[in-house]
Amino acid sequence: MSSQAPIGVFDSGVGGLTVAREIMRQIPNEKIVYFGDTARLPYGSKSQSTIIRFARQIVNFLNTCEVKAIAVACNTASAYALDVIEREVDIPMIGVVKPGARTAVRTTKNGRIGVIATDATVNSGMYTRYIHSLNPDLAVYSKACPLFVPLVEEGMLHDFVTEEIANRYLAELKQQNIDTLILGCTHYPLLRTLIGKCMGMSVQLVNPAYETAISLREMLREKDLLAEPLPENETPAHRFFVSDGAEKFEIFANSILPYDIRKTEVIDIEGY
Ligand code: DGL
Repeated sequence: MSSQAPIGVFDSGVGGLTVAREIMRQIPNEKIVYFGDTARLPYGSKSQSTIIRFARQIVNFLNTCEVKAIAVACNTASAYALDVIEREVDIPMIGVVKPGARTAVRTTKNGRIGVIATDATVNSGMYTRYIHSLNPDLAVYSKACPLFVPLVEEGMLHDFVTEEIANRYLAELKQQNIDTLILGCTHYPLLRTLIGKCMGMSVQLVNPAYETAISLREMLREKDLLAEPLPENETPAHRFFVSDGAEKFEIFANSILPYDIRKTEVIDIEGY
């Protein structure tokens, strides 16, 4: 596999762009092929077998783009499908759950960690299991916040309705005296300001995207797959694909990426 090949990044929608953005910052020479499964979102309410089927199709598609590695920029797919799919393919893969859990374990001072995520990620128990594998003495409190995903996809990042829902979802966690909160869905960092305001200054918010990008860089370095530096003022030719709603995706992506998308292609992911 050539080190000049792109990295595949995927999510159910725009949430994974928070990871793509961090990869662009941490390893700026890398080309990204992004896929957002906008036609089949949300993933968080689906069963494990459905998520595995979706992830398998996406990995098959990314394979046709000859990616050298895949970042599963979706907690739900990382929790439900990554272990299965990585045994099936010959491409190095990385998810967001383990890097996020590692950061939280390093961050907490009082040993009390909160996790907010989709229903599927919470039900998988993966954050709790992985945190306990690193330190069994830590207390972990999880809360599913399913409405956050459609609110983000609708661009309602600073809306009073979103604030009201955040207050309701986070009320229980606020009683638990946590000092660290994992944003365990890649859509949630887009609500960071609002979640931070609701939880208060004493709670550190952990966005797994940063640690994921760093771990990805290490993985590429170990495998001698880091891309060569680009000539000055040149940006890598990233590519963006979705399963529906290209225009809406593009407007959103252009509002959060340090780079303007010129073209988003729609593909029939069921065909892979
Ligand atoms: N952004 C995804 C995650 O990190 C999934 C959101 C959804 O589609 O429910 O879990």
